[in-house]
Amino acid sequence: MTAGRQLCVGIIALLLVTGPGFTAFAAENAAEGTFVIHQIAGNPSKASEVFAVTSNFGILKSEDAGLTWKTANHGIKSFTHHALAINPAKSPRLYVGGWGGGLSRSDDDGANWTEMNDQLGNTAVDAIAVDPGAPDRLYIATSTRFYRTDDGGNRWLPYGEGLPPFPGETKFKTLLLLPGTPKTLWLGTAQGLFYRAVDSPRWSEEDRFKNIRVSALACDEKLRRLWVGTLGQGLFVRREPEKDWSSIEIEKEAWINQIVLDPTDSGIIYVATRGKGIFKSTDGGKSWSPANTGLDDSDIRSLAIHPLNRSLLFAGTTAKGIYRSTDGGAHWSPSQPLPPLTISQIIEMLSIPSLPAARPAVPAAFSKCNGCHGWTDPALNQKKTYWRVPPNLRDWAETVVRMSERAHLTPDEISSVLKFLTSYSRKPSG
Ligand code: HEC
Repeated sequence: MTAGRQLCVGIIALLLVTGPGFTAFAAENAAEGTFVIHQIAGNPSKASEVFAVTSNFGILKSEDAGLTWKTANHGIKSFTHHALAINPAKSPRLYVGGWGGGLSRSDDDGANWTEMNDQLGNTAVDAIAVDPGAPDRLYIATSTRFYRTDDGGNRWLPYGEGLPPFPGETKFKTLLLLPGTPKTLWLGTAQGLFYRAVDSPRWSEEDRFKNIRVSALACDEKLRRLWVGTLGQGLFVRREPEKDWSSIEIEKEAWINQIVLDPTDSGIIYVATRGKGIFKSTDGGKSWSPANTGLDDSDIRSLAIHPLNRSLLFAGTTAKGIYRSTDGGAHWSPSQPLPPLTISQIIEMLSIPSLPAARPAVPAAFSKCNGCHGWTDPALNQKKTYWRVPPNLRDWAETVVRMSERAHLTPDEISSVLKFLTSYSRKPSG
């Protein structure tokens, strides 16, 4: 079943931390402290199924239209995920992206996940875009780079030509593919808004948003309208291929986390904000009313409408879990909270290969890699943070060189840490 109107929605990953000082928890068991719901999406072929990605429970799945949720982390090695995308054309195929966990995909509605990072040199995935017309093509923005794959993730190609260097911080990025001829990618970052026709050799910058933090994108394919949400400057829209943007008045200097369009009624638009909850328009954006009845959190990090039921909405908060509405946002009620889980319990449910008895010796310099974030392997971990890097099979070189500046490694230490991580993560399960 397909929605009456094609929508293309930017997949945003808003990250909490913007600098080296991660929130360190006094106790191992304080896993619940930063339970942010970063993205939510309904299964486009099952009305009862919904998925969410979180900062410290990994992936959540609901099989009762969002009333209750369970973790769905089988095959995942990292519990910090920020980006979620579903390609409906592949019956459907799910993708999640996280910090250190890179990109994972599921072809069985989230029951099992496969990591696709073998060739990636950066596993902090901020945003994902899928192309329903080319189901094995995928675009991702990481903390430092932009990549494309044409074969479902076996081979990653650099695709950032023309983009400014990303600051290499965990900020946010939002990405969407605007259908049409040609298809055009739109990327919002802390530095502005960029676009690239998929057949063009490079990205261009959209001048109107120079140095504006572009945090949300959505498009209405039928009306050819592109919506742009910003942090601090509100909402904008334009009809393609017009060049001028209209500024939409919702609230002065609104901070927009997500824009959601009704799949059948072009007049209905929802906006999730940081600090002011949710707003709804029923007249195409001319007027807006708050839609917060029953919500106990005003920082709505993620918002989704179920593709098979336009009255069913989900709101992901920064502190209070997930809320659902069955009446188009008029009323909200909290989903049943997840049982409290400790970080150790969460790590136990991840699929970290059991390490060989003869694991490579840990070089002394590696302790400098424990300065900010932790490691999912308890034998390596000296830092009790909620974000921990897993021992992925991946290309470590770029990251180790990049992180060596933060960890103040000498050239000898760089090579010892690189050698260690490469052999450690390539060891087969023992
Ligand atoms: C001063 C703090 C700090 C130290 C020390 C540090 N990191 Fe990081 N690391 C970060 C931050 C912040 C990020 C997320 C933003 C980014 O990707 O730059 C990150 C991201 C990562 C990632 C995910 C992104 C990627 O490139 O795959 C990995 C893996 C990683 N670090 C490994 C290491 C290793 C190995 C060391 C030791 C050489 C190290 N870190 C030392 C702060 C630090």
